[in-house]
Amino acid sequence: MGLASTQRVPLTLRTDGLPPEEVIFGRSAAMQDFRQKIKKFAGTSVPLLIQGESGTGKGVMARYIHSRSSVAAGPFVNVNCAAIPGTLLESELFGYEKGAFTGAYASKPGRVEMAHMGTLFLDGIDEIDMALQAKLLQLLQDSQFSRIGGAEDISVQIRVICATGRPLEHEIAAGRFRADLYYRINVARVELPALRARLEDVPQLAAHFYDRLRQRHKSSVSPISPVMVKLFEKHSWPGNIRELENLMERYVILGSEEAIGEELANWERAVVTPELPATGPIHLKNVTRKAVRELEGKIILSALEANRWNRKRAARDLRISYRALLYKIRQAGLPAKRSGEIARAPVNVPMASD
Ligand SMILES: Nc1ncnc2c1ncn2[C@@H]1O[C@H](COP(=O)(O)OP(=O)(O)OP(=O)(O)O)[C@@H](O)[C@H]1O
Ligand SMILES: [Mg+2]
Repeated sequence: MGLASTQRVPLTLRTDGLPPEEVIFGRSAAMQDFRQKIKKFAGTSVPLLIQGESGTGKGVMARYIHSRSSVAAGPFVNVNCAAIPGTLLESELFGYEKGAFTGAYASKPGRVEMAHMGTLFLDGIDEIDMALQAKLLQLLQDSQFSRIGGAEDISVQIRVICATGRPLEHEIAAGRFRADLYYRINVARVELPALRARLEDVPQLAAHFYDRLRQRHKSSVSPISPVMVKLFEKHSWPGNIRELENLMERYVILGSEEAIGEELANWERAVVTPELPATGPIHLKNVTRKAVRELEGKIILSALEANRWNRKRAARDLRISYRALLYKIRQAGLPAKRSGEIARAPVNVPMASD
């Protein structure tokens, strides 16, 4: 059954509203290199794998690539594989027929069908379970699939872009990812650098977020000072561009540099300088133990930030058990959950000239 002849799918996600290209790519050598690769791949229809830490802009890049592709006029369909539990993900992706399971009162097309003649963006492909990986492999091999409870094969024409936070080779070695699927999705691979590897791009990104967020929050706060920019350029940004964006949002809303400056300074101080008594003996064991514990707390916090406070994923990244992480979170006096997160809307305001 050809999809185009049987059904029209209304969903088309807009891909405009991306930041301007000079902001997206910046000036750093790492990003210029990335840009060159993207340019070559964007116009083709080969599957593309984007690897990068959380918050480095994998979603932004996927939308950018779609906007430059031969299917740019078609839909861009985003599936956040990490956020949807395994059983739901199958019906979300492939859809179902009426009566396929309890509660399936009507047939429903999945995201794969919605992406026909466009791009299917599988964000967090490393989180998909093995059973679903087999079904995805079939889709990529034959450009066909069937809805849950459906007898017919449905053909689709889609460009697939996948994103992963960790190298899939490690997942294969750990027996969590199928090698045959890996070879299918890894035809072209690009790696997004962490923000700490492109610190020279930070001022321009900060200016972009300043303009955008000031407009959104109707704030009259002044641009950040050169001193603050210097602090920004020294920070390690474990949460990457998302962290910078959130920090700028707090700045624009609070209207003062003090709060965010303290945040950054606390971070740097705790990482580099152990607390030593001004005079008298230094109890090496105690000082070291305390410094190590503080450092551990910072590293855990950064892993939590990088995984959007998903503790299971953070534990995996830190190569410790989930239980050990919970214990260490308590020991470090960290909150059990992310707090004070500011809701964000999609990027939609162009950067003013700076
Ligand atoms: N190159 C960029 N220029 C401007 N803003 C960007 C850029 N990349 C990312 N951002 C902003 O940073 C935030 C994080 O980007 P995005 O969601 O694409 O990251 P991600 O790598 O997909 O993260 P995750 O792995 O957590 O899904 C977004 O709000 C986005 O607007
Ligand atoms: Mg993403």
